[in-house]
Amino acid sequence: MSILQESDPTSYSPFVDGSPQMRAIGTVIESISDTDATVLIRGESGVGKDLVARAVHAASSRRRGPFIKVNCAAIPQELLESELFGHEKGAFTDAHRRKPGQFEYANKGTIFLDEIAELPLALQAKLLHALQDFRFSRVGGHELLEIDTRVIAATNRDLEEAMTRGEFREDLYYRLNVVEIKVPPLRERREEIPALATLFLARFNAQYGRQKQLLPETMARLTEYTWSGNVRELENVMRRLVVLADGEQAIEALVIRGRNGHCSAPRPPFLEGLREIGRRGAREAQRKTLAEVLERVTWNRAEAARILKVSYKTLLTKIAECGLTPPRHR
Ligand SMILES: Nc1ncnc2c1ncn2[C@@H]1O[C@H](COP(=O)(O)OP(=O)(O)OP(=O)(O)O)[C@@H](O)[C@H]1O
Ligand SMILES: [Mg+2]
Repeated sequence: MSILQESDPTSYSPFVDGSPQMRAIGTVIESISDTDATVLIRGESGVGKDLVARAVHAASSRRRGPFIKVNCAAIPQELLESELFGHEKGAFTDAHRRKPGQFEYANKGTIFLDEIAELPLALQAKLLHALQDFRFSRVGGHELLEIDTRVIAATNRDLEEAMTRGEFREDLYYRLNVVEIKVPPLRERREEIPALATLFLARFNAQYGRQKQLLPETMARLTEYTWSGNVRELENVMRRLVVLADGEQAIEALVIRGRNGHCSAPRPPFLEGLREIGRRGAREAQRKTLAEVLERVTWNRAEAARILKVSYKTLLTKIAECGLTPPRHR
């Protein structure tokens, strides 16, 4: 499921905060820990917005309550209202029985609305009213239910631009943006790279039963690389390094490719060609969708293949290419 119900604090992955920027975020999280302030987390894809959201929940007085994540981009728009607010029996054709929404499941806890910019306008209105009145009704229902939930929203899109285009409601923007946390891209906090690389190396060595080590020069290269896919890209590169026999060479190739034409010192930031950006974007989008769908169908691969309209074999290849593993192997 794209909705994770994780109230177990042990399921939080370790959070590296080895830069002034991330420590500043830690201070903000600390300073709002005794409030229910709504938090808007912003930043490029892969910077760690999910982890920050979990950290806000874990630091709050609601930490023993549920943490419910709803990815607004991964659920078909026509199902999103019922997903968030639930529905009554007979509310629509397939509504054979009453179903609680994620706001109900998040009672006394935190709801994390990821990719909030993808929320359709009509739902933005309903969400705004719910947040203002602290109550809502299920789809097809009249009973008013109380909201006792901390709201965290995240996006990697330019919400201000979405507002000027009329795609995002200004009043909802201000309602969500009580506390804004901007997670900077990894290239602006390079001092974290060694600690992150070491963390991922240890994690994947344990997961795949390897004893790979990083040569100092490889670590230096990792620290210089641009990481336009941010921490997620670093994580994937470390996985490749651990899994592939010639992992170090793979990193060498990555970094040399990254430096093409930019060998003079000081080294200007590397610019990828459009084609490569496109390919990486497509790869990342595929990986994300694949992971969401697999989670949603609890790794029923046949079902996932059907939803994604690919053959079973193609699905297995994609899973391997993306380095995805079912939860029990993680
Ligand atoms: N500070 C960190 N310490 C340890 N791991 C991290 C850190 N930041 C990110 N990661 C890891 O990097 C990966 C990407 O992070 P995350 O999913 O939080 O990014 P995101 O900003 O939510 O991306 P998207 O916009 O694509 O949803 C995750 O596997 C996460 O565990
Ligand atoms: Mg995320």
